[in-house]
Amino acid sequence: MIRSVVRGFGAHLPERIMKNSDMEGVVETSDEWIVQRTGIRQRHIAGEGETTAFLGEMAARAALERAAMTPADIDLIICATSTPDNTFPATAVNIQNRLGMHHGAAFDVQAVCSGFIFAVTTADSYIKSGLARRVLVIGAETFSRILDWSDRTTCVLFGDGAGAIVLEAENGEGTTADRGVLTTHLRSDGAHREKLYVDGGPSTTGTVGHLRMQGREVFKHAVGMIIDVIEAAYAATGVSSDDIDWFVPHQANRRIIDASARKLGIDDSKVVVTVDHHGNTSAASIPLALCEAAADGRIKKGDLVLLEAMGGGFTWGSVILRW
Ligand code: ACO
Repeated sequence: MIRSVVRGFGAHLPERIMKNSDMEGVVETSDEWIVQRTGIRQRHIAGEGETTAFLGEMAARAALERAAMTPADIDLIICATSTPDNTFPATAVNIQNRLGMHHGAAFDVQAVCSGFIFAVTTADSYIKSGLARRVLVIGAETFSRILDWSDRTTCVLFGDGAGAIVLEAENGEGTTADRGVLTTHLRSDGAHREKLYVDGGPSTTGTVGHLRMQGREVFKHAVGMIIDVIEAAYAATGVSSDDIDWFVPHQANRRIIDASARKLGIDDSKVVVTVDHHGNTSAASIPLALCEAAADGRIKKGDLVLLEAMGGGFTWGSVILRW
């Protein structure tokens, strides 16, 4: 059996940090309100030139270096983003060009905050079907560009950044047969569109638009959807919460993360949290969190890692992989 194994990981964050105290000068808010409701203390905000493709390229280069590979070794790039540099070409194709790569294929996946889960699932399917051997999977976002900076209910929540992993096909007959992506589960339901969307687009307003969210409505659905898709992953693999070494959830809100972990019976010490210093970076949040925990030695080779995300659409999904 062919498995998609993580060979490298990398991340890149914009230089500028915006603390909650800096937000107090933009909208009527307070550090106390933001920390209490979300757990967010600061976020990185992209400056001029720090586009989604730039952030993605930097994360990709770091992931390739850790994998001891060059762009020549890659045959597919998948970039999860809802904040592309342009409507087209795809940001993945921009990144491909920035890497000096002119072979293989590159395309974007758009599933908002669940984008990285959808991209890993797509990459895993290409690898398992034999259509690709080495896939660069990137989550890259500049959500600061689609925020309404006069709306305090949304602008305090998001940040910018990018993370990437390299997945490589490994034949399960080898000694590391149980490593790699073990299962993936995707869901979506467009009936929830109005609860979280961007009020612009090429075929409606001809503008980019701004993010709009009914925060309470999103909150109400989040935990149930997350648990549903993790239970599907457990049922498919026979894995239970006791087996999980690291829970790396999408980093939207500390209260959603804590409530999900509690319901699943996963101890706090096994939960990777970056929302406090990254904010919600949408499709970039999981690879950024993965990179942080792998770089500082928490996630080690052979660890069982549970990923999940829920976001606009709604979309939601889970991945279980052995690092
Ligand atoms: N600073 C100060 N006060 C604020 C702020 C702010 N930034 N934002 C809202 N308020 C006020 C509101 O105006 C309201 O005041 P009122 O009572 O006088 O009307 C009060 O705070 C409470 O507002 P609520 O929206 O009811 O606050 P709630 O407790 O629901 O918290 C929050 C809001 C944090 C957005 C919460 O609903 C939430 O976390 N929802 C999930 C959102 C989320 O995680 N989205 C991302 C998931 S999907 C994805 O990642 C794309």
